[in-house]
Amino acid sequence: MLDRPRWTPKRIDLTRPSAARVYDYLLGGGCNTAADRELAKRLLEVTPQVRVTVRLNRSFLRRAVTWLVGQGVTQFLDIGSGIPSVGNVHQIAQGLNPKCRVAYVDNDPIAIAYAEPLLRDNAFATAVLADFRSPDEVLNAPDVRALIDFDQPVAVLTLLMMHFVADSADPARLMRRYRDALVPGSYVALSHPSFTGAQGDELADAQSVGEIVQDTLEPLHLRTADELLRIIDGFEPVPPGVVHLPLWRPDSDADVGRHPESSLVYGVVAAKP
Ligand SMILES: C[S@@+](CC[C@H](N)C(=O)[O-])C[C@H]1O[C@@H](n2cnc3c(N)ncnc32)[C@H](O)[C@@H]1O
Repeated sequence: MLDRPRWTPKRIDLTRPSAARVYDYLLGGGCNTAADRELAKRLLEVTPQVRVTVRLNRSFLRRAVTWLVGQGVTQFLDIGSGIPSVGNVHQIAQGLNPKCRVAYVDNDPIAIAYAEPLLRDNAFATAVLADFRSPDEVLNAPDVRALIDFDQPVAVLTLLMMHFVADSADPARLMRRYRDALVPGSYVALSHPSFTGAQGDELADAQSVGEIVQDTLEPLHLRTADELLRIIDGFEPVPPGVVHLPLWRPDSDADVGRHPESSLVYGVVAAKP
């Protein structure tokens, strides 16, 4: 578990929980502090579904990247990439096509600090500290430009990140800026919490989780399928469209389970025509 590695930038406050490190703990990772673990345990006490949901999200990530490589995509811009975990985008994509290039972007310095040593020997992957809400900074970052050729198709991934972007920041306008930088044949993939589909105890538990996250981490912006479609306006969702995570091109019926909507998270992949 994390105390303070020598190379951890001083500006990282390890006494307060961070979204990236709480998520790391929920995935079974070791890059988290007592504050992160305490918050994660509070969430799990409300509902163990939280742990299931983060795994379903990683499984969606794997299926989406696999599908995108199958469409011939070889470049990925993964924004809000998080602390490296099992099954990172470069491992999935380069496992299928060693020529795939992956630029990770996160606004949490610890996510980048952990990615850098992992990627040091990988000429086709990089990690950049930048914020989704500053598209010019992301798109023009020298390390991104050195790796990603924007004259060729790129898949922009924002998985479990957009709920941290407030409506006041105008996510649709920001996404438009990314879309305009991409050539036709590019894609966006998004996963996003939504409590639509939850009922009864499940809904009450989800709301309690939302309140704890909101009070301790950052404001949480839940969105409906229609709101997500507005954010990715100008991209055309590929079948099956915006669906709860287990329903997005599952590998088997067993993956779907009896209540796919209890994932409480939507996934979608959409193409730039
Ligand atoms: C829940 S993790 C998701 C990690 C990974 N995308 C996945 O789905 O497995 C959310 C990540 O988004 C990052 N994040 C939140 N807001 C961001 C922003 N405005 N720009 C870039 N990264 C952001 C957090 O630091 C965190 O690492």
